Amino acid sequence: MKVIPIYEPTLVGNEKKYLIDCIDTVWISSQGKYITDFERALADYHGVQHCIATSNCTTALHLALKALGIGENDEVICPDLTFIAPANMILLSGAKLKLVDIDKETLALDPVLIEKSITPQTKAIIVVHQFGHSAPMDEIMAIAEKYNLKVIEDNAESIGGYYKGKMLGTFGDLSCFSFFGNKVITSGEGGAILTNNASLALTCKELRDHGMSSEKKYHHIALGYNYRMTNMQAAVGVAQLEKIEEILKLRKEQMDIYYEMLSDVPGVTPRSFKDWCSPVHWLLTITLDKQYDRNDIIAKMKTFGVECRPMINPVHHAVYLRDGYSDSEFPVSVDISSRSLHLPSSNKITRNDIVIIVDALRKCLS
Ligand SMILES: Cc1ncc(COP(=O)(O)O)c(C=O)c1O
Repeated sequence: MKVIPIYEPTLVGNEKKYLIDCIDTVWISSQGKYITDFERALADYHGVQHCIATSNCTTALHLALKALGIGENDEVICPDLTFIAPANMILLSGAKLKLVDIDKETLALDPVLIEKSITPQTKAIIVVHQFGHSAPMDEIMAIAEKYNLKVIEDNAESIGGYYKGKMLGTFGDLSCFSFFGNKVITSGEGGAILTNNASLALTCKELRDHGMSSEKKYHHIALGYNYRMTNMQAAVGVAQLEKIEEILKLRKEQMDIYYEMLSDVPGVTPRSFKDWCSPVHWLLTITLDKQYDRNDIIAKMKTFGVECRPMINPVHHAVYLRDGYSDSEFPVSVDISSRSLHLPSSNKITRNDIVIIVDALRKCLS
């Protein structure tokens, strides 16, 4: 039986050629032309001045928090429904994690709840553009301005998306990206920070490299890390960025086919898109009606050769956090998380695959 995987990267451009170039020139470590090319191309694509490539998005988030001087006695707001990396990085930066529930339509931070959770210790908000859909940036930026908060966008899942015509990743003081193998474009593992602030960019660069002064080698001016990207990762990233428009177009076509075919499947609500959002088709997300057991449906889909993924769990369900919170504080996050799943989404999915997937879903639900 043919198995349709939840995700598969496609490496059909210049990836191999650039990787061979890294090997031929022996520039395989964290210096080399592809790193600067990747940083320039990503910055230019977003119309932003500075880009700092990192080993992954998790380390990018850590650097962004540290560059903003976030630490002990500070509070940072983070959505309760997100892949856990931003929450973990807030904790590892020494700050207090302030989880906030999401809005049931955008699946992003609910601005009304953000405002309610602000205290004199609140210093920053990490805004996650969840599963390809923008967070409501006008409201969030207005709150940040009102309370003098820093904004970090976590755009791991939504590269190429827009909010009211402005590109995601260009709103915050800093924005972070992931190029893990299941993302819209990949470098295997990899991440990046974008910012228009030269001083923050320099701090990120130095912290990325053991806190070493950019002016004087082996002179350490801050407690830093090794969060560098390699030239080989960047080589793959450059090749993928060359094709990003093509990939986004393909994914949009897939999304349209999925939405058309899912429109008459009873018991299923595909995630909705606000008209101010120009979404990215990362992982197609559906929510099942309450009578279904989501995990049971995923198991049944597997018998049809369709690999689905359960939605991430609420952050407060992490073993090291759950004693401090209760489900009743995050009703939307808990409800959406438990009833939602992702259907296969990658550049390789064809119309015929989508017919098979939706047909299997219909059978599993009936
Ligand atoms: C919203 C979000 N933030 C951060 C990350 C972490 O990315 P990485 O695996 O590149 O560290 C992910 C990964 O899936 C993510 O979805």
